[in-house]
Amino acid sequence: MNAESSRVAVESPGDLVDRRLVAWFYLAACLFLLVSMLGGILMALQLVRWNPLKGIEFLSPGRWRMVHTNAVAYGFLANAFLGTLHWAVPRLTMKPVASRALSYFIFFAWQLVVLATAGGLIFGPSFQAQPWLEELTAQTQLSLSLGAQGVEWGETPFWIDPVALVGLLLVAINFMVPVARSKGPMYVSLWYFVAAYIWTILTYGMGNLMPEYAVAGTNAGAITGLFIHDLVGLFVTPMGWGLMYYFVPIILQRPIWSHGLSLVGFWGLAFFYPLQGIHHFLYTPIPMFLQYGAVISTIAVELVVATVIINFVGTIWGDGEKIKSNLPLRWFYCGMLYYFITCFQCAFQVTLTFQKLIHFTDWVVGHAHLVMFGVFSMWIFGAMTYLFPRLLRRPWYSRQLAEWHFWLSAVGVFVMWLDLTFAGVFQGFWWSSLQPWMDSVNGAVPFWITRLFAGLAMAGGFGCFLVNLYKTWRMPPVSESEETMDLMLEPATV
Ligand code: HEM
Repeated sequence: MNAESSRVAVESPGDLVDRRLVAWFYLAACLFLLVSMLGGILMALQLVRWNPLKGIEFLSPGRWRMVHTNAVAYGFLANAFLGTLHWAVPRLTMKPVASRALSYFIFFAWQLVVLATAGGLIFGPSFQAQPWLEELTAQTQLSLSLGAQGVEWGETPFWIDPVALVGLLLVAINFMVPVARSKGPMYVSLWYFVAAYIWTILTYGMGNLMPEYAVAGTNAGAITGLFIHDLVGLFVTPMGWGLMYYFVPIILQRPIWSHGLSLVGFWGLAFFYPLQGIHHFLYTPIPMFLQYGAVISTIAVELVVATVIINFVGTIWGDGEKIKSNLPLRWFYCGMLYYFITCFQCAFQVTLTFQKLIHFTDWVVGHAHLVMFGVFSMWIFGAMTYLFPRLLRRPWYSRQLAEWHFWLSAVGVFVMWLDLTFAGVFQGFWWSSLQPWMDSVNGAVPFWITRLFAGLAMAGGFGCFLVNLYKTWRMPPVSESEETMDLMLEPATV
């Protein structure tokens, strides 16, 4: 990693990167994030007892919830990661991807997978009820779930799963070839990416196929716990950290503080993460030794994450002022701060003592937003803020809009997290003191109203980003020098 920034600066990566494709992936990511946020807001409205789409079966809140989570995971995060990989991998290896045609094929195929998933989630259950399908299901004894599968994050209808798996395999091949062809040291970013390609295929296959066809009962519960956690830990996390190890040294123009520590982080993740899935199902009939094992390995991962955060703090040490002026850097380090908070919180919530109180409460939803939006989406926004000017060959249109995007997102998600964390504690006490159920629902309404406004702030921030992007795209292109693109570092002008 140490030589990474200098290597990129010395050798021009020129034709290696297909900027148009990176921009397409980013635009697709933005489109799906918009849909997801809309779904989140609709769910939030439903919880404060105002459902604007009442009576429309296809757009009922339960379906919107699945569209919300699936669009974020497979539409936003996956597209954004794929776009960034198309920028970073050729630069890190100094080799193009295996095939540009394959990259375009993957782009269109992946959008189809995401759209088909949304279609399956919205329309599937209605087709499911068709008499001919029910009869066929009864005759074949096969679970022909055209609609959602009953697996959290694996709701994708069963017929999409093999297609998605083939897509993930093609992605792995496309990015592994340049890594295999490259000479010299393998940067730590590439360690993370290579691991993510393999782990994602295994994780997706395990979570979408095994509970559906191979295992049942508590065993299936254990597998789905593993799946939902590994999606975050073995797909999103290595991608996110890999990108941080790529962007931060380049922007700061200095090597990462400790290469040794970066390897501790990698191997710690590889060893401890796959053991912790069952922490989602504490106090279930899953054997206690597995539950205890999951708790201990979760706490171990918190220590691993701490080493990674220390490494990045060490890297910026003495240059902290840059966070004020350099927006991508600010996104990255704010995400790291939230990462620290979320992991600190996790070390408590994973214990059986805390679980007694907060299980199934809004505490968990707050935690999920802090990690998915406060950490990984922030890193993606940082990467987009850094790369869009380079992709469009125009500096950002407005610094103010970019600042609004940052502050509305950062404050919005923090308020949402804090609010839902408190809501969770209250709900836990209401439930454990055996108050009537409706008391806990009525008591949660003020928290849910606050969450709605926090969500609107996050969506408003994203709106600023989209307006800024549109206005930037409408400006005439400027010189191609990297310095011109860094006008974002200058004080606000527009
Ligand atoms: C516009 C802002 C947003 C609002 C208003 C919002 C609202 C919601 C609501 C109401 C739920 C369902 C909670 C429940 O079932 O009780 C939810 C779930 C979830 N949202 Fe969002 N959301 C927003 C943005 C996001 C973003 C941008 C992400 C990720 C990047 C995200 C990730 C999640 C996750 C992971 C869950 C599932 C939580 C769980 O099952 O524990 N949300 N959201």
